[in-house]
Amino acid sequence: MYPGKGPSLDGRKHGVVKRNCTRRWWFWLIFFVIANVAIVVGIVCGVIPIVAQNSVTNAIVRADGIAITNPSDDRITLAMNATVFAHAPVKARFANQTFEMYLPDDKNQTTFMTLDVGELEANPTMAINVTGADTNILNKEIYQTFSKQVLSKGNFSLVIRSKPILKVGSLQYRVNFEKTVQLKGFNGLRGITITNPTILNGSAVMEDGTNLLTDGVIPNPSSFTMQIGDLTADISIDTLKLGFSVIKNLTLYPGDNAVKIYNHINPELMGLPMFSAILDQPNVNITLAINSTILNGQHISWLETPLREASPFYAIMNPGSAPAVGSAMAGGLS
Ligand SMILES: *[C@@H]1O[C@H](CO)[C@@H](O)[C@H](O)[C@H]1NC(C)=O
Ligand SMILES: *[C@@H]1O[C@H](CO)[C@@H](O)[C@H](O)[C@H]1NC(C)=O
Ligand SMILES: *[C@@H]1O[C@H](CO)[C@@H](O)[C@H](O)[C@H]1NC(C)=O
Ligand SMILES: *[C@@H]1O[C@H](CO)[C@@H](O)[C@H](O)[C@H]1NC(C)=O
Ligand SMILES: *[C@@H]1O[C@H](CO)[C@@H](O)[C@H](O)[C@H]1NC(C)=O
Ligand SMILES: *[C@@H]1O[C@H](CO)[C@@H](O)[C@H](O)[C@H]1NC(C)=O
Ligand SMILES: *[C@@H]1O[C@H](CO)[C@@H](O)[C@H](O)[C@H]1NC(C)=O
Ligand SMILES: *[C@@H]1O[C@H](CO)[C@@H](O)[C@H](O)[C@H]1NC(C)=O
Ligand SMILES: *[C@@H]1O[C@H](CO)[C@@H](O)[C@H](O)[C@H]1NC(C)=O
Repeated sequence: MYPGKGPSLDGRKHGVVKRNCTRRWWFWLIFFVIANVAIVVGIVCGVIPIVAQNSVTNAIVRADGIAITNPSDDRITLAMNATVFAHAPVKARFANQTFEMYLPDDKNQTTFMTLDVGELEANPTMAINVTGADTNILNKEIYQTFSKQVLSKGNFSLVIRSKPILKVGSLQYRVNFEKTVQLKGFNGLRGITITNPTILNGSAVMEDGTNLLTDGVIPNPSSFTMQIGDLTADISIDTLKLGFSVIKNLTLYPGDNAVKIYNHINPELMGLPMFSAILDQPNVNITLAINSTILNGQHISWLETPLREASPFYAIMNPGSAPAVGSAMAGGLS
């Protein structure tokens, strides 16, 4: 023992304990803060992204209307109304995003078309309304396959994908969005009807050679609006070739589309009583073989080729009942 040094030793001891205590206090504070930060970070970086991703993954997308207008060989104008149903657990917004579209049968998942979508508030029901977006056709071959499905199928599907940034307060998360959307097609334009055949004879024949006018109704059971342009089809009844028909500046809207049909009937048929008799009969089954679609003087191959390939289409003239055949002389057309 070294008396005299004891107290100083005790004092040092005390000091060490005190310092230890202080260190521990800092240690626990830092531990506590880190633990809390870890939990918050865990929630922010681990839980919220998973919740956010899950709500995006479980979302349901319904396409209410798609309009394809101003078609050219490499560009279209696209409009879309869609509704997204999602469970949004927190208040959040999707930043601007670009929808990429590909066909589910395409193993390469090649994007053939994109659509820019503006900011969206995350809600249980989100309306997406895009109007008049000029869109490049990124892959013509696939776009034509898509167009063929629209024009000929009853049902088909399309995959939409994007990687939107989800903003939760000031936090931002990138989520993966990929949805197969079921769409209704034109179903082979089934159910076309033709009425009011009106013979234009003598000098009533139009300058372009139209010698028979008819009214037509083309049903479109899909939610697509498609601008087709001038449509030309060869027409026949069984093996009897009648000539060809033209529908000018055709746009098919959802529902029934009333059109005026300009028919160029082979002149040798025109004078025959047999032909007038046909125009008088009920439920005449007319075969339509679509030849061309022209808009602004240009053939639109992704419309023309599928329509040709899907031909023949059928139309029923005078459905249900036999009408009185109208006729118009020069000046008799009003
Ligand atoms: C979207 O909805 C609006 C309002 O109902 C309608 O006017 C528009 O034609 C729709 N667009 C498409 C592409 O269906
Ligand atoms: C947006 O689209 C929905 C259908 O998806 C439609 O009911 C609504 O009227 C559209 N709104 C506008 C402003 O076009
Ligand atoms: C979102 O898109 C709109 C329209 O394209 C644009 O005006 C706006 O600046 C964009 N916002 C951001 C954050 O990019
Ligand atoms: C997928 O991509 C490869 C390589 O680019 C190509 O050779 C192949 O033809 C593509 N397949 C289809 C189905 O498009
Ligand atoms: C399209 O699918 C729906 C639902 O699966 C079905 O009820 C409908 O008959 C189908 N339509 C055609 C034309 O195949
Ligand atoms: C025009 O056609 C109608 C109906 O076939 C016929 O009744 C009429 O005599 C024709 N007129 C002329 C000038 O050929
Ligand atoms: C063709 O149809 C479109 C859509 O219905 C219309 O906006 C346009 O004015 C029409 N053009 C002509 C030359 O009739
Ligand atoms: C019209 O004729 C075609 C070919 O014979 C046939 O497939 C189709 O069912 C007919 N349409 C009607 C409504 O009878
Ligand atoms: C449609 O195509 C066929 C075969 O190529 C041709 O014989 C016919 O003249 C064409 N019809 C029209 C109206 O161009």
